[in-house]
Amino acid sequence: MKLAYAVSMFVTFGAFAPSALFAAEPVPLSAQGCVGCHGVRGTGSDPTPRIAGRPAAEIVSQLKAFASNQRPGTIMGRIARGYSDADIVAIAAYFSAQK
Ligand code: HEC
Repeated sequence: MKLAYAVSMFVTFGAFAPSALFAAEPVPLSAQGCVGCHGVRGTGSDPTPRIAGRPAAEIVSQLKAFASNQRPGTIMGRIARGYSDADIVAIAAYFSAQK
């Protein structure tokens, strides 16, 4: 009985809740630090720019420019420094695939 309850709770909250929150496609773990400001799909909202659908190479180069202070930002410099190159590539792929 307890197991059946646990399984039903898992199904309810474990499987369905995230798909409801994140619509069609799950946000990769590495990109979850971005969505609070840029939106789940990277659509942005003032003053945070839209990054959805931008070419992945451009997102990578902007993040690296922020991280190295080549591009000044209010917040992005500190954020960009927290990610490995592999994270940045995965994050850029995710946001560039959004509409
Ligand atoms: C605290 C809010 C916040 C978070 C979290 C955040 N950003 Fe930003 N992002 C901004 C703001 C604000 C700007 C405008 C530049 C600035 O002021 O730093 C920006 C600018 C950018 C730009 C440049 C867009 C353009 O128009 O050139 C990119 C690319 C970007 N962010 C990607 C990301 C990614 C990827 C993450 C996650 C690793 C992320 N941001 C996390 C707020 C945020």
